[in-house]
Amino acid sequence: MLEAQGIQLPLEGRATSTTENRRELGTQAQVDVFGEGMRDFWKSGPEESKHINYWLADNCFGDYYTRTGLSYAQREMITFCFLAAQGGCKPQLTSHAAGNMKVGNDKAFLIRVISQCLPYIGYPRSLNALACVNRAADTQKQSTDKEEIKMEKNLIIYYSRKGQNYVNGSIRDLSKGNTEICAEFIQKAVGGDLFEIKTVKAYSTDYMTCTEEAKVELRARERPELKRYLDSIADYDNVFVCGPCWWGTYPCAVFTQLEKLDWTGKKVMALMTHEGSGLGSCERDLKRICVGAVFGKGLAIHGADAAHSEREVASWAKAQI
Ligand SMILES: Cc1cc2nc3c(=O)[nH]c(=O)nc-3n(C[C@H](O)[C@H](O)[C@H](O)COP(=O)(O)O)c2cc1C
Repeated sequence: MLEAQGIQLPLEGRATSTTENRRELGTQAQVDVFGEGMRDFWKSGPEESKHINYWLADNCFGDYYTRTGLSYAQREMITFCFLAAQGGCKPQLTSHAAGNMKVGNDKAFLIRVISQCLPYIGYPRSLNALACVNRAADTQKQSTDKEEIKMEKNLIIYYSRKGQNYVNGSIRDLSKGNTEICAEFIQKAVGGDLFEIKTVKAYSTDYMTCTEEAKVELRARERPELKRYLDSIADYDNVFVCGPCWWGTYPCAVFTQLEKLDWTGKKVMALMTHEGSGLGSCERDLKRICVGAVFGKGLAIHGADAAHSEREVASWAKAQI
């Protein structure tokens, strides 16, 4: 029949992979069709059956999906038809419905595909296929909603003091402040801009002297001058306010900055590093100053543990936005 159409046989080979590189190319095809989560799928699974996941990357995707002649969209559509017709492979059909959507065959298109197949595969398999398409579309919508949430802009305002500090009952010299460490963990976890509050006057590097300076300042409700100010937070949706506990609340310099901003509509989260006082009164103080904001849950990190708190800080920060 092909020859009658003027097609010369045997057909030219369409392979682009070799036995040396088919696993890598297959993995890339899996990632292209299903997403980054498939990158390590070939090495996953229980010991006794992980070779099948390897074959899937190596043979199924590495040999077939890398062939020329069909686009990913065409190949995915055909795979979807085969699976729907075969019946009894709902998980695979749902995954390939999602794969189709990822490469441009949307829900409406897949419903048209099912409609075309229906006279050949019958109602039960068509209805199963439709259920898989609906499930894949719901999952896709949920992840798009999540991405939209992630598009929100985050700001991390922090104050942190290097030098002598009180750590687990003794005085130590910190080359990087505890709060700065945590602020950077937040940025790493959820992205956003860091703004460090720096005062014009330098606090003593001697711990005891500094605590006296801070006490005087707090009692007098001082607002120490800053080296630079953040004039507006209009571009941001979520603001993490991070500082050390100084006599039960943030250092006065934090309030110097916070009082200059319009907080209407922002979501504000408190992080405080401390040596025993926890969050102190910082959440209450934020609520007084950040008028018009809504507030997330605060997080207290023991200063001595700051360097080991990445997981805790990251999961807290992600849960707030
Ligand atoms: C001036 C000053 C006052 C402090 N007051 C308290 C306090 O009242 N309660 C507490 O738990 N820790 C207190 N600390 C300890 C710090 O909150 C803690 O070491 C914090 O992690 C330091 O953060 P930083 O390195 O980012 O500046 C104080 C430290 C200083 C320097």
